[in-house]
Amino acid sequence: MIIAHISDLHFGPQHRKGFFAEAVKEINKFKPDAIVITGDLTENGLLNEYKAAKQGIAKFDCKIKVTLSGNHDYRSTGYLLFKQFFPSKQVTEVEDVVIIPIGTARPDRDDGEAGHRQVLWVEETLTKYKNKFKIVALHHHLIPVPDTGKDSIPILDAGDVLRALLKGGVDLVMCGHRHRPWMWNIENFTVIHAGTLSSERMRGFFSNSYNIVEINDRKIKTYLKVVGGEKMEIGRIVKEATLGIPEEY
Ligand SMILES: [Fe+2]
Ligand SMILES: [Fe+2]
Repeated sequence: MIIAHISDLHFGPQHRKGFFAEAVKEINKFKPDAIVITGDLTENGLLNEYKAAKQGIAKFDCKIKVTLSGNHDYRSTGYLLFKQFFPSKQVTEVEDVVIIPIGTARPDRDDGEAGHRQVLWVEETLTKYKNKFKIVALHHHLIPVPDTGKDSIPILDAGDVLRALLKGGVDLVMCGHRHRPWMWNIENFTVIHAGTLSSERMRGFFSNSYNIVEINDRKIKTYLKVVGGEKMEIGRIVKEATLGIPEEY
């Protein structure tokens, strides 16, 4: 089972068209079983950006796409457009893997939260699928990542969500938002953060990138793929801070 984790496409003024096209080519080549898109498909939640995002995402040749909203998508009443353009199921099952999204974006706010009822639902849902490999995906980060300065505040109720994930026995968490690829291992699960697939705005890792997750017999291997460049174990970027600066610089 191979899952591509992409994030922060940012269709709009800062979108890098060429890098997006390259990423589509690469991902279609390795034929993932599912693609998880952890939000910020648009820059400002505008109609023309949604149209471009829809057309762009349609180029991924994969039947299962789990699409989450980000804070940028909810700007300018974009939250009304998101559900029109990207209607999604609550839970997605792919063989012995279940993908559970948490909606953390709120209208016209950059910070995020899960909310009490959603936290209860996540814990119940994880328990219900206890025999599956359980992935939880959210746009905002659950725990801070490096190189994100004053904006390092995770979702408001991060502690409650972390407890629910722990109690529910989650296996893997996917986050976006900070445009900084990273990985943390917490208790019995791993949290991976995707960089930005196609935005100019990068932090601490100066290439567009995405994550690739391979799951075999409940064991995972997580890779970071630089768009148009190297594929490496994601743990390497935790150890080597200067990776990701393109050679032409
Ligand atoms: Fe973003
Ligand atoms: Fe974001």
